[in-house]
Amino acid sequence: MDQPNAAQKPEPDLPSTQRDPEEEAVHRALERFYLTGKPPWDTGVTPPELVALVEGQGALPPGRALELGCGTGTNATYLARHGWEVTAVDLIDRAVDEARKKAAAAEVAVRLLHGDATRLDELDVPGPFDLFFDLSCYCGVPLHRRDAYAAGLTQRAAPGARFLMFGYGPEPVGNPLPEVTSWAAGVTADELRARFTGWELLDVTPGTNSVPTFWFTLRRSA
Ligand SMILES: C[S@@+](CC[C@H](N)C(=O)[O-])C[C@H]1O[C@@H](n2cnc3c(N)ncnc32)[C@H](O)[C@@H]1O
Repeated sequence: MDQPNAAQKPEPDLPSTQRDPEEEAVHRALERFYLTGKPPWDTGVTPPELVALVEGQGALPPGRALELGCGTGTNATYLARHGWEVTAVDLIDRAVDEARKKAAAAEVAVRLLHGDATRLDELDVPGPFDLFFDLSCYCGVPLHRRDAYAAGLTQRAAPGARFLMFGYGPEPVGNPLPEVTSWAAGVTADELRARFTGWELLDVTPGTNSVPTFWFTLRRSA
């Protein structure tokens, strides 16, 4: 197992031959966001929905957490500071590098991995995990990769594990990448119910954005 936050040897990017054109388009678009400065979502603020789960009334006891699409690591670092054993994955190496710096500066151990949340079998993330967190990663995953994403989490979920996900609803205004149909499809409660078999959708709370967004809470059947 590699050391949390340690300077790791550069991880090879997923060979582009393994990605289809839609995945390539998503990858390029995400890379551009990180290359051109701070992406718009990188607020450095942990959302109150995650804070409530970790610190609020009836908070989950700390356990093992996996963040999918961790970006520059704000929430992975937050979870580690609150006693969680955290693994966090992002597709974009530049984001993971920033996340490592953030965790190191906060003096917490976070296992940060450059990789694809739909290909967890290619990473060393055996689980089981008690908590999964996804802030608008899944809703950008191409539709044909979403079963693989769901299977990866299901295989790694402890009985009763929670999954907190924030996602954009269908057809957010101004899809910046029309060739990526998933970005127009977004995510719905019906889709999650159908795709995450063996999970119960506990809660759907609309977000406060100007376009339809949702916070979904799922629980793995015990
Ligand atoms: C909206 S950003 C949120 C980042 C971070 N969670 C935050 O709150 O700042 C979504 C992140 O998911 C990552 N992502 C998208 N598709 C991914 C995939 N298939 N595997 C891993 N990460 C992915 C993107 O690179 C991006 O960093």
